Amino acid sequence: MKILLTGGAGYIGSHTGVELLEAGYDVVSVDNYVNSQPEALRRVEAITGKKVTAYEADVCDKAALERIFEAERPDAVIHFAGLKAVGESVAKPLMYYRNNLDSTLALLETMKKYGCTRIVFSSSATVYGQPEVLPVPETARLGCSSPYGWTKYMIEQILRDEAVADKELSVVLLRYFNPVGAHPSGLIGENPNGIPNNLMPNVLNAASGKMKELKVFGGDYPTPDGTCVRDYIHVVDLAKGHVRAIRYAMEHTGSEAINLGTGVGYSVLDIINSFEKSTGVKVPYVMTDRRPGDIPTVYADPSKAARLLDWRTEKTLDDMCRDSWAFKSRNPNGYEAE
Ligand code: NAD
Ligand code: WQD
Repeated sequence: MKILLTGGAGYIGSHTGVELLEAGYDVVSVDNYVNSQPEALRRVEAITGKKVTAYEADVCDKAALERIFEAERPDAVIHFAGLKAVGESVAKPLMYYRNNLDSTLALLETMKKYGCTRIVFSSSATVYGQPEVLPVPETARLGCSSPYGWTKYMIEQILRDEAVADKELSVVLLRYFNPVGAHPSGLIGENPNGIPNNLMPNVLNAASGKMKELKVFGGDYPTPDGTCVRDYIHVVDLAKGHVRAIRYAMEHTGSEAINLGTGVGYSVLDIINSFEKSTGVKVPYVMTDRRPGDIPTVYADPSKAARLLDWRTEKTLDDMCRDSWAFKSRNPNGYEAE
């Protein structure tokens, strides 16, 4: 069975490629490398000993997509491709709406033309905005606080509408919480272009001396230690969730939104402590003002994923920190030069 990954060279796409290949699927990647490098796919091949068919193309380019579908005839698609920096989306909303929405529309139209009826989509816990209930269930009220978040919200709606109109379509909307960690081989991991926004890449930069110190954004939140609480999930657990979602999509039609998280919240200081304990490396940090827009506490209710996908996370916070550090230590300049 052949699975087409849009954004297959990215952080989550590359880890999912490994898990799919190891589960016996064929993998095709379509990526324009706007936030990744083809080297990630070579490393997926090195880890698995299996081939990835890679196309360099913009998913917004429908003619290119049609050529790829004509040649590959995929059985299902996982749609990772998208721009994902929250702050950048506030500064450049049109770029985000154009890229994330156009790519999805072109993909859906091409899937329809070629009779491909199974799609798993990378949504995000950001669609919950400030949650009213914790842990957050999929039934929680939705509302976003950035153009990036609204692209996820709108794409979810487009996919749900399409699943109502086309009874053969199967849509799985995976709402990821906070993916961190790397493949235990140390060969693939998160390799953001430019200055990172997320916590773990900044922890790694502070630990490696690339950055003087980590800025902890706010120590006066209504949480046990005053720093924000999130549901960090190991990217390998997340990747395995996609294999389960593909299996589910093959057997069902209609649409389902499913949280992928651990169900446990950890604070920024918990991350620093776990990192130092599991790696033996100090993380110099300084408390600063709150970052505008941050929500004090968010963590998932992952029971629907357990029920529908028979999926649960297995990795610990220490695993997440240790594996992130192993990738960073082995690839101090990312994929550029090993
Ligand atoms: P990433 O940037 O590493 O991967 C996205 C990939 O898509 C990159 O390889 C990029 O080059 C490619 N891409 C972007 N626009 C494209 C286009 N028009 N045509 C072809 N390729 C294109 O990000 P990631 O962390 O792997 O995230 C994957 C998906 O999961 C994204 O949709 C993201 O919004 C979503 N998500 C990520 C997180 C997170 O914290 N990492 C959380 C929730 C949801
Ligand atoms: C985590 C915590 C920060 C950096 C974002 C997106 C979300 C999803 C995941 C895509 C917060 C604190 C961070 C730093 C810090 N992505 N922090 N110093 O904001 O929960 O979620 O990424 O869908 O949509 O909004 O993740 O990693 O940015 O922050 O203290 O240098 O770490 O304040 O409490 P966030 P994050």
